[in-house]
Amino acid sequence: MDYLSLIQKPIEKELEDFVSLFNETLTHTDGLLAQALEHIRNKGGKRMRPILILLLAKSFGGVTSVAQYAAIGLELLHTASLVHDDVVDESGERRGQASVNASYNNKVAVLVGDYILSTALLNIALTDSSDIVRDLAELGRTLSNGEILQLTNIDNQDISEDVYYQVIRQKTAALFESCSVIGVKAGGADAQVIEEARAFGSNIGIIFQIRDDIFDYFDSKEIGKPTGNDMAEGKLTLPVIYALNSTNNEEMLALAHKVKARSVRSDEIARLVDFTKANGGIEYAEQKMAECRRLALNFIEKRITDDALKTALTAYVDFIIDRKN
Ligand code: IPE
Ligand code: IPE
Ligand code: MG
Ligand code: MG
Repeated sequence: MDYLSLIQKPIEKELEDFVSLFNETLTHTDGLLAQALEHIRNKGGKRMRPILILLLAKSFGGVTSVAQYAAIGLELLHTASLVHDDVVDESGERRGQASVNASYNNKVAVLVGDYILSTALLNIALTDSSDIVRDLAELGRTLSNGEILQLTNIDNQDISEDVYYQVIRQKTAALFESCSVIGVKAGGADAQVIEEARAFGSNIGIIFQIRDDIFDYFDSKEIGKPTGNDMAEGKLTLPVIYALNSTNNEEMLALAHKVKARSVRSDEIARLVDFTKANGGIEYAEQKMAECRRLALNFIEKRITDDALKTALTAYVDFIIDRKN
């Protein structure tokens, strides 16, 4: 069986309910808003975050309406962050179709992103859990801070793995961490399990962003969003950071500073990408994913008792490493 079938098997019905409730939240009757929401609804993503909540809630006691509203709220927060991220990254493609900013314009994308973010808050409020409301509010602040840190880091001349991890922990891993915590909380887990679930979610999120960053070094039609964009935007990610810091190649360091100064040419980006590949940057990033995978699998082994859920969560971890989009 393929990864996705294994992942979805124990939560088939719950995921079906999720999708229809989620799509209902992305509908409106008024002109442009209705159109833009339909545009987004037409291309659902992989739904990795709600799937994580549903699998963990089921593992620790069952998928209640609290888990479903939380899953909807977090996927909406993710969706809003993508709509805004494509404005910030000036990206024209998302999920294999034109991004909202490209289809309409930046103004529409900012406003529609705000609408979706408020819809996330509404759904989180429906959990009737002040604890989950607080988690989501803090999460929104962390995500924004991560994106801002990434932006200001462009002007930082240091090329540092530490700052890379600070950024990805906040802009991506925090969301997976919240899904994991909310999932086990909704199921009724105790405080010790909640803390272990936090680390589990964080490892998953780190893997997720490292894989996403590796995508950027390769051309791919399957991925559904532009590649080769990061350096053009001034961003240096783990593979190139490793290659630069492990070789101290003066010529390549000079190109990296041109990346940060936003004055690099596309042929120079291609040279930096080739240099990264020739100096083990991709393998190094893959090794980091493997380290996080081992930690994530320890949690599954220790805390998940049901066989189908254990298989599903293991397939989930392997899928985020091996995925093609
Ligand atoms: C994209 O997330 C943003 C990152 C954290 C890299 P996904 O790859 O989960 O996006 P969708 O929802 O499946 O499109
Ligand atoms: C992903 O940002 C995390 C968000 C906060 C949206 P990226 O810019 O790295 O992700 P993609 O590659 O556009 O999906
Ligand atoms: Mg971005
Ligand atoms: Mg982006």
